[in-house]
Amino acid sequence: MPLLLVDGLHVRYGAIVALRGMSLTVDEGEIVGLIGVNGAGKSTTMNAIMQVVRPERGRIEYNGASLIGLAPEAIIRRGVAPVMEGRRIFPGLTVEENLKLGAAIRSDREAIRADIERWCAFFPILGERLTKPAGTLSGGQQQMLAVARALMSRPRLLLMDEPSLGLAPKLVSEVFTLIAELRDLGMTILLVEQNVRKTLDIVDRAYLVNTGRVEFAGTPDEIRQQADLEQAYLGGGREAGGGRNASPSASRLPPPASARTSIRG
Ligand SMILES: Nc1ncnc2c1ncn2[C@@H]1O[C@H](COP(=O)(O)OP(=O)(O)OP(=O)(O)O)[C@@H](O)[C@H]1O
Ligand SMILES: [Mg+2]
Repeated sequence: MPLLLVDGLHVRYGAIVALRGMSLTVDEGEIVGLIGVNGAGKSTTMNAIMQVVRPERGRIEYNGASLIGLAPEAIIRRGVAPVMEGRRIFPGLTVEENLKLGAAIRSDREAIRADIERWCAFFPILGERLTKPAGTLSGGQQQMLAVARALMSRPRLLLMDEPSLGLAPKLVSEVFTLIAELRDLGMTILLVEQNVRKTLDIVDRAYLVNTGRVEFAGTPDEIRQQADLEQAYLGGGREAGGGRNASPSASRLPPPASARTSIRG
């Protein structure tokens, strides 16, 4: 049984159909990538998992139980933590207050304090700035705070939506290093990224998403072997300015392999 199962998800915003049969699985201990051009439906998938947007139909199951209809807080209580697009930290609150908000679902004060120390050791800059307003942190530091805050809920599954977006190249590399380190700590991660090459370097599997559904799924090697496919998705980086026109022709592509079993078994 996968830790997360998304099956046949349909989401629309009024007349705009954002997801049309989105399906994916994430097994415990995996890092799974969700790759696609602007508007492909990646954030909508994340928001649907958190039930911030309600799907018209389809299944979302975490640890064997449906998440449909739950409040986002109830989903966080079950062990899912989002690091959503645009790092929504509270700039007027201190770094420490932001971290405590991440633990809002918990009441084990001593353990919360210990976790703050743990993540400040992991992200030393946060420890140094603990009593400073979060708004005084640099963009990269705020991203670290957003991740640390999500970790404060002690999640089993981390949902990360474009954690490297808007960061300087050096910081982008640091974010990818961080993700690999979190995997080594045993975290399970669903990662949305436009940085295709770096994503393929760290994920166990990835899904290529186009117009609201999976176009191809496989291991990084399998995806790299689809040279034209990788090329099409490589065009989607924001910095590269490829954007929406980089969409590949669906008819040339192999059928979705969303039911493919995990390479980790
Ligand atoms: N709140 C909204 N209201 C209306 N349409 C929306 C809304 N959010 C997303 N959409 C549309 O739904 C589709 C999927 O958007 P989504 O944000 O999920 O894509 P994405 O893959 O995350 O893109 P990006 O790479 O730009 O973040 C797009 O056509 C987008 O314009
Ligand atoms: Mg998005």
